[in-house]
Amino acid sequence: MTSLVIRRPDDWHLHLRDETALRAVLPFTASRFARAIVMPNLKPPVTTTDLALAYRRRILAALPPGVSFEPLMTLYLTDETAPAEIERAKASGAVHGCKLYPAGATTHSDAGVTDVRHIDAALERMAELSMVLQVHGEVTDPQVDVFDREARFIDEVLAPLTERHRSLRVVFEHITTRAAVQFVSTAPAGIAATVTPQHLLMNRNALFAGGLRPHHYCLPVLKAEADRAALLSAVAGGSTRFFLGTDSAPHARSAKEAAYGCAGIFCAHAGIELYAEAFEAAGALDKLEAFASFHGADFYGLPRNAGTLTLKKEPWTVPENYPFGAAELVPLRAGESIAWRVTAAGTA
Ligand code: NCD
Ligand code: ZN
Repeated sequence: MTSLVIRRPDDWHLHLRDETALRAVLPFTASRFARAIVMPNLKPPVTTTDLALAYRRRILAALPPGVSFEPLMTLYLTDETAPAEIERAKASGAVHGCKLYPAGATTHSDAGVTDVRHIDAALERMAELSMVLQVHGEVTDPQVDVFDREARFIDEVLAPLTERHRSLRVVFEHITTRAAVQFVSTAPAGIAATVTPQHLLMNRNALFAGGLRPHHYCLPVLKAEADRAALLSAVAGGSTRFFLGTDSAPHARSAKEAAYGCAGIFCAHAGIELYAEAFEAAGALDKLEAFASFHGADFYGLPRNAGTLTLKKEPWTVPENYPFGAAELVPLRAGESIAWRVTAAGTA
């Protein structure tokens, strides 16, 4: 197959940042995806409906002229998030979920939740209002091996949480392990997961290939080949439980290439093309459309998009970097080739 027309996709997990960084990265997403769940880990975090609505307005204002794109907002949960805030978020119509960052788990998560039991009242209200909980699934105990933190989170936090809140709809974000695939595949219907292109295409060897590779460092960190294979076969199997979420997470080159390099891989410049590569490698290009354009919308209870996106198998070389305000951004595959390109996007 050398050409592929799919329904316009959505990105169910995206970091857009703010101000000049927002203006630098937004066009990559808006030219491919009709909508995206925009992560709330700004500094300070997007903890209230008012902050989410203001951020939404800044995103819309940053769109290039004539481009239509719908930012879907999510609130950053803290130990203090009140059920009344969940009600305001739901009533706004613009907030589609709440994000659980265990405090200290990842970039800008220090204001996150210190113990999930502190947010039980908020979770209860979310379940009542059918508001989706998006979970960064890693334990933060520094004693736990970094490669085991997702599997431990399932046993110690996520499984008990879903038992306590049986009607809560949960997206286990950016899953990286065979354990997570198993958990989601056998969980009740209200539990789903997003999968990133980096975790479908690379294993942890990519962190050390030819030297230490900061641009391959994200959280949850890349895992073993058996984990990558489990993720790929899960998405290639076509289960409605799994859908697209790039977790494109831009950081300036200087913040990545540093003694304490930031976690986050920028992949929005090829946010659908990289998935096409992964699905093609799995012999499952026919499953790409539902993964990218149907499963997420159906899970969130939103209409599927009307337009289409055309991909062609036509290799292109990714630039060494892109402008990022006054700084520069090193994209995934910088200076290397990507097999698929987007040739047309249209609203119906
Ligand atoms: C994200 C970021 O930079 O905001 N980083 C990452 O490695 N994925 C945060 C996150 O999603 O964990
Ligand atoms: Zn993320």
